[in-house]
Amino acid sequence: MTLTTDYHSGKAYVVTGGCSGIGLAILHYLLARSAIVHILDISSTPPQVPSHLPQKNLHFYPNTDVTSGSIVRNVFTQIRTITTTIHGLINNAGIAYQPVVTGLESDELFDRVMDVNVRGVWNVGNAYLSHILSREADEQPNPAAAIEGRGVIVNLCSIASFHGNLGYVSYTVSKHAVLGMTRAWATNFAAQGVRVNGVAPGGTDTPLLQGIMAKTDIQEQYESQVPLGKRCARPEEIADAVGFLLGKESSYMTGQVITVDGGRYV
Ligand SMILES: NC(=O)c1ccc[n+]([C@@H]2O[C@H](COP(=O)([O-])OP(=O)(O)OC[C@H]3O[C@@H](n4cnc5c(N)ncnc54)[C@H](O)[C@@H]3O)[C@@H](O)[C@H]2O)c1
Repeated sequence: MTLTTDYHSGKAYVVTGGCSGIGLAILHYLLARSAIVHILDISSTPPQVPSHLPQKNLHFYPNTDVTSGSIVRNVFTQIRTITTTIHGLINNAGIAYQPVVTGLESDELFDRVMDVNVRGVWNVGNAYLSHILSREADEQPNPAAAIEGRGVIVNLCSIASFHGNLGYVSYTVSKHAVLGMTRAWATNFAAQGVRVNGVAPGGTDTPLLQGIMAKTDIQEQYESQVPLGKRCARPEEIADAVGFLLGKESSYMTGQVITVDGGRYV
């Protein structure tokens, strides 16, 4: 398959959690293709961008907590003063935690994980869908737009969207919910020309993973069970799958989730 490298050029995307790990790799992927990228992150420090990439195409909204619907809506208002058409959204921001392998996960942990991983996706997805629907009201029926699509969403799911991962009850519940949101949005907004898909990474070498596995031998055990290379994914390998779902090569796909786990869960 040949990827069209200039498809994203000049198109605008919103990426949540783009300061680290997979979100940062998605930012680099899009900037390398001359896209305009709006990064929403709870971090106050801008994402690091190599000097060969077009820095001017990056717009950063620091201290943006996706759990707050009003903060997210305000940021979308700011984005629309710069970018009238937002071509795509990547719902990537998420949290995990040290595994709880004996005993119960606390109510506080459950609430925080659901807030970021589910409410956050809900908030940003609804702000984006609202942008699409308001554009639709302004547009005349246009068969070309229906083919091209009015918008595209890629949600970061997980292998925990399909499996009951040991030590991660709240996280597993949250990622099953993101899978459900992916399918429900795909079903409900296909008629408006919006495609909604997901990428489900297996263990991926990011600060999130390093944070939760640093004090355990879980990573070594996990990697020994990965058929492709006995290793975790590189963030760029997840970004490639996200790029495919954003692009025209996936124009007839919606409501689907691509697992990128080195064959761990075949
Ligand atoms: N790393 C893995 O092994 C793995 C596996 C499967 C799925 N995922 C998913 O991929 C996504 C990215 O994970 P990662 O490993 O790159 O994590 P990461 O911790 O490296 O990066 C997450 C980013 O999200 C931001 N963020 C966290 N909470 C936020 C909030 N409330 N509002 C706005 N931004 C917030 C962080 O500041 C950070 O920039 C997550 O949804 C995660 O669940 C990761």
